[in-house]
Amino acid sequence: MRQLTESANSATWIAEQSEASKIDLIGFSIVEWSAHKGESAAYIQTIEVHPAFRGRGIGAELLSRSEASARAAGAHTIELHVDVENAEAIGLYESRGYARQGREEHYYARHRAAFIYAKPLG
Ligand SMILES: CC(C)(COP(=O)(O)OP(=O)(O)OC[C@H]1O[C@@H](n2cnc3c(N)ncnc32)[C@H](O)[C@@H]1OP(=O)(O)O)[C@@H](O)C(=O)NCCC(=O)NCCS
Repeated sequence: MRQLTESANSATWIAEQSEASKIDLIGFSIVEWSAHKGESAAYIQTIEVHPAFRGRGIGAELLSRSEASARAAGAHTIELHVDVENAEAIGLYESRGYARQGREEHYYARHRAAFIYAKPLG
């Protein structure tokens, strides 16, 4: 993960909560991008919010900022894989304009399948 976050072709967004002098990390996302045949595409590597802070718009904000980073880097589309049983994440992506492109069997450990989602960055 360190290698990924330090790459010039990626952006990491962090959500923090501060209380008195204490700052806690409560969520983060990592997006990377690459060019293929002159077309730049981005990929959401990970997005996660601490369970106690879910359902408050933090995941949507992290996703939106990741998209903005990818767009600023010249990416025209953004893609991701998500576990077919991950209703929360699927809800997040579908509500933010991602469309299902396909399904990849055995993508995760223990033979779990993934959906592939994509969105034009326009
Ligand atoms: C997926 C995840 C990042 C969402 O973060 P979050 O902060 O709870 O999301 P938000 O509060 O911003 O919600 C954004 C949208 O997600 C969808 N959503 C959120 N919780 C949901 C749930 N329990 N069921 C269905 N959809 C849900 C809704 O469409 C919501 O939009 P709305 O509030 O306008 O209705 C969070 O659940 C998480 O960290 N999950 C574990 C890690 C993970 O699975 N990451 C994805 C890997 S592909």
